[in-house]
Amino acid sequence: MCGIVGYVGNGSASEILLNGLKRLEYRGYDSSGLAVLADGKLELRRSVGKISNLSLNIKNRPLNGHIGVGHTRWATHGIPSEENAHPHTDCSKRIVVVHNGIIENYSSLKAVLIKKAHQFVSQTDTEIIAHLIEESWELKQKNSNGKKSEEDFLHAVRHALLQCDGAYALGILCMDFPELLVAARKDCPLVLGLGKKENFIASDIPALLGLSKKVIFLDQEEIAVIKKNSIDCFNLQGKKVEKKSVKVKLDPVQAEKANFKHFMLKEIMEQPRTIQDTLRGRVFPEKNRLQLELNLSAAFIKGLKRITLVACGTSYHAALVGRFWLESLAKVPCQVEIASEYRYRDHFFSSQELVIFISQSGETADTLAALRLTHRFPVKTLAICNVLGSSLTQEADTTFYTRCGPEIGVASTKAFTGQLIALLLLAIHLGIIKKHLNLKTIHQILADLLNLPHWVREALTLSNEIEKISKRFLSKNHFLFLGRHTNYPIALEGALKLKEISYIHAEGYPAGEMKHGPIALIDKEMPLVALVTDSLVYEKICSNIEEAKARGGTVIAIASKGNKTIQEKADEVLYVEKVPEIFSSIVNVIPLQLFAYHMADLKGCDVDQPRNLAKSVTVE
Ligand code: F6R
Repeated sequence: MCGIVGYVGNGSASEILLNGLKRLEYRGYDSSGLAVLADGKLELRRSVGKISNLSLNIKNRPLNGHIGVGHTRWATHGIPSEENAHPHTDCSKRIVVVHNGIIENYSSLKAVLIKKAHQFVSQTDTEIIAHLIEESWELKQKNSNGKKSEEDFLHAVRHALLQCDGAYALGILCMDFPELLVAARKDCPLVLGLGKKENFIASDIPALLGLSKKVIFLDQEEIAVIKKNSIDCFNLQGKKVEKKSVKVKLDPVQAEKANFKHFMLKEIMEQPRTIQDTLRGRVFPEKNRLQLELNLSAAFIKGLKRITLVACGTSYHAALVGRFWLESLAKVPCQVEIASEYRYRDHFFSSQELVIFISQSGETADTLAALRLTHRFPVKTLAICNVLGSSLTQEADTTFYTRCGPEIGVASTKAFTGQLIALLLLAIHLGIIKKHLNLKTIHQILADLLNLPHWVREALTLSNEIEKISKRFLSKNHFLFLGRHTNYPIALEGALKLKEISYIHAEGYPAGEMKHGPIALIDKEMPLVALVTDSLVYEKICSNIEEAKARGGTVIAIASKGNKTIQEKADEVLYVEKVPEIFSSIVNVIPLQLFAYHMADLKGCDVDQPRNLAKSVTVE
């Protein structure tokens, strides 16, 4: 989720790289850095905070040279600090690396490298790449009596990358080759920009705007060897691959949205990838094991008597879903609290309790205040958060990161599914340690978890159909969203999404509550959106739909593929994959996000910045 730029040519590398980084800055990165190679020396500048801090740093200590790499960081491993900012170097400071992605097996690789006397200065996963290259490069040189051939260096890079599990987009420089920029990618995008007697690399096209009109998209597990007059691409086995360049015709704002009309739509569509990132390196079905970087001892988990989940808005809805999983998989009694209410109540905690604070931003004033009041008690706290180094993560005892990347649209979408995944992983983890899950169940859930990106991708294909349905319902001013069990919070979330971005009044209700009041509202002007995917409560919610239909209500149903009978009950049916019940909330929220999006877009609303709302609610 970071930004990368690289340059080789005749221009001022630091100026070009800084401009490229500035074009990516809108995403709210937390630190940045540059490395420039000149007169046989590699020089680095790194700064925490905005790019303007890096600019000032470079103004005070200029960098001259015509080849370099730059990076804006959105922290995943290690807090935002100068040491953790990229570029990272090897022990000899001859190799520099900028990296986007996550190296999943970095801790085991790091342990091996430390045994071989490599010195690490950061907490990042990236730093191991520089040391792995160094290790292979030194060996190559030893075997060729100190001869430094470019071919051997590329071999060393390939050898290093073949040891890395996970995702990467990389820019690499080595002092021994002052005209060579190496790029590589796996599961993270990387483009090569073509210029006249100059070439570029970038993680995102906006970084290249105004610099290059032709680009080459690097494919999976490819390495590019970039010089000012040439670009050659190879696969990880060293075989040359022919690449075609394409013209880019994007205005800067459009390019930042990767050609989507709004950031919100981009972020909705990104979810298969962000879910994958939340799961990455944490789920091992073949070993029936999860590896979560949580500082909660097995003894504490075994003795756990109660969990309280505290959050606001969309994060509160995630907490409501999480409660089902924590109760059913880990068998721990749970309560869910809205932070702004909870902070003014009386509290009673014991040391056998865990309080979980959920926040995308980690800066929500009410959630932070609720966390602070727990400090008076001997109770453990856990943050589920998307922003590394945010206040919540600094003040909680331990943090589980959702790793969804910066969310720009004010309405939370990908961060919500990230929170759901985090809660599900936590519930499974507790269930395993508390021995409430047998091996077969663990294996099945973990294997199914890895299917989630696919199920979500399928749900996203409904976008056009949802747009058509939205047109039909555009004149309606009120909506009722109904769900039961784990899909009741999804009904709340669907209603919240619709009201916050389209300004249409919407209520989310547990379907069983209809007959206790809200059914009085039903008429042809009050459509219902009902979550009726296959589940324990399927028949019950069908009855609730019948009751609404009998009173003239119009129903849009979200149902499981293969369910034909629902067509007789509902006016419109949106089919999602038939998934095991515990995953249905994660899949079912997708059509509701798309429905809110299309309604708001068709109404001409400012989707990304809805009126009266802010992305981080830092005031009470
Ligand atoms: C709605 C939305 C908000 C946030 C709420 C809490 O789409 O984004 O309801 O969920 O303001 O924010 P965080 O999660 O940053 O604490």
